[in-house]
Amino acid sequence: MNITYYGHSCFGVEINGKHLLFDPYISPNELAKNIDVNAVKADYILISHGHNDHIADAVSIAKRTGAKVICTWEIYVWLGKQGLENIHPMNTGGKVKLDFGNVKCVKAEHSSSLPDGSYGGNPMGFVVESNQGNFYYAGDTALTYDMKLIGEYRKVDFAFLPIGDNFTMGVDNAIIAAEFIHCNDIIGMHYDTFGYIKIDEVEALKKFERSGKLLTLMNIGETINKH
Ligand code: NI
Ligand code: MN
Repeated sequence: MNITYYGHSCFGVEINGKHLLFDPYISPNELAKNIDVNAVKADYILISHGHNDHIADAVSIAKRTGAKVICTWEIYVWLGKQGLENIHPMNTGGKVKLDFGNVKCVKAEHSSSLPDGSYGGNPMGFVVESNQGNFYYAGDTALTYDMKLIGEYRKVDFAFLPIGDNFTMGVDNAIIAAEFIHCNDIIGMHYDTFGYIKIDEVEALKKFERSGKLLTLMNIGETINKH
């Protein structure tokens, strides 16, 4: 799997030749100004919830690429009104089998409204299972006991967890989340983009190291390979 970071909580993950794009928020992000949003690849766009810092570029990228968007029923209805047709509605607890593997929607403890104020349904996280490995993309969430279920019934090879605090869990709770899902390989997200979520990166890395876990903080535009 190749993983590319586009800033904030936006990642591209390439699995079995298919490009998954999570929570596209690129063009409004000053830190991601060197990313060409018109060059971002997508066969699937997975949207965790409706907040603008997760959905800003979803319509334009979906229209350009023809990617299938995976989101809640409420976001499906809203995207339909923006002129998108290739959308797969889901909700928490549901799983779908796609050509690269399975996507399961899991609980996120957060809120979800769309840029025009309409209701976005439940916020979600995603568990992706494939023959290349399994990972958990948490979306925006607090630490919850429900995370134990994610690691209980499958091996989680790595996970994208928010670490910016204020709107989501911070570093200390992300370390507990990693324990809950039995995964020591964490990629940090949802930090530094705006003032409320600026973190001390050196301290975050040290805290993970002291807990015997690996935190990876990717550079925007960087691609890494997992397995
Ligand atoms: Ni949010
Ligand atoms: Mn957010």
